[in-house]
Amino acid sequence: MRLNSPQINLIIRACMKASRSLIRDFGEIENLQVSSKGPGDFVTSADKRTEKILIEELQKAHPEYGIITEESGIINGTNNKNRWIIDPIDGTMNFLNGIPQFAISIGYEENGEIISGAIFNPIMNEMFCAEKGNGAYLNNSRIRVSNKKKINNALIVTGGPKASSKIKDKIFSEYVNVSKNVSNVRKYGSAALDMAYVACGRFDGYWQRELNYWDISAGVIILKEAGGFVDFFEEDINSPLKKNVLATNSNIHEELKALINKKDIE
Ligand code: IPD
Ligand code: CA
Ligand code: CA
Repeated sequence: MRLNSPQINLIIRACMKASRSLIRDFGEIENLQVSSKGPGDFVTSADKRTEKILIEELQKAHPEYGIITEESGIINGTNNKNRWIIDPIDGTMNFLNGIPQFAISIGYEENGEIISGAIFNPIMNEMFCAEKGNGAYLNNSRIRVSNKKKINNALIVTGGPKASSKIKDKIFSEYVNVSKNVSNVRKYGSAALDMAYVACGRFDGYWQRELNYWDISAGVIILKEAGGFVDFFEEDINSPLKKNVLATNSNIHEELKALINKKDIE
């Protein structure tokens, strides 16, 4: 891997360390699924444990940096120009159900711009990472987005709506409209991995509403460095951590955007 900033090295080290307990916890899930209590509380503590290890590792090197995490919220540093954006387990529902499609996601931001990041699926042992100007990698190999040019041949991934969503009908109608005009649509349950999979050409495009910044911060730089294009649409200036994302191999970007914007289903 030719990524060598101190920040990306730190992110990778933190991911590797936290993943050891995460792998053990995932192994426990199967036993808990058949127990009367179920794995719910256990998953919450696995989430917290993973986040604690990540924060400790990153703070050891840079106690002055700010941190945004899913579990602990915003931790102000003395220097908030540099921030880590952490999702300890992205794909919790998969984790809870014993499905190995989840990841640790960490982005590193300077002056509001994501500069580097990693998404690590510890069960598949797949480390996606990137650094501004230095390309994107899956383990030791350089990755690139797919070359597909026609939306009707594209394999698209999406996610949501959450049970609490107030715009379910809108999301479902977008889903129907996109489905009618592409090769197929998947819902894979981890926004971070969805972005990483577009970056390495497994999917051609991805869109999703009502995400949080920590779901996709690492994915943004990985996808850009792999030659893809990321757009945030219908942004709400009052909720800067809430994101609607459109991410593609670049070629099909405008077409996918047009399908999402279409109000009525053909
Ligand atoms: C979730 C996953 C999922 C997406 C949800 C996210 P979590 O994150 O990324 O794919 O559909 O909107 O909240 O809760 O597993 O960290
Ligand atoms: Ca999470
Ligand atoms: Ca998440």
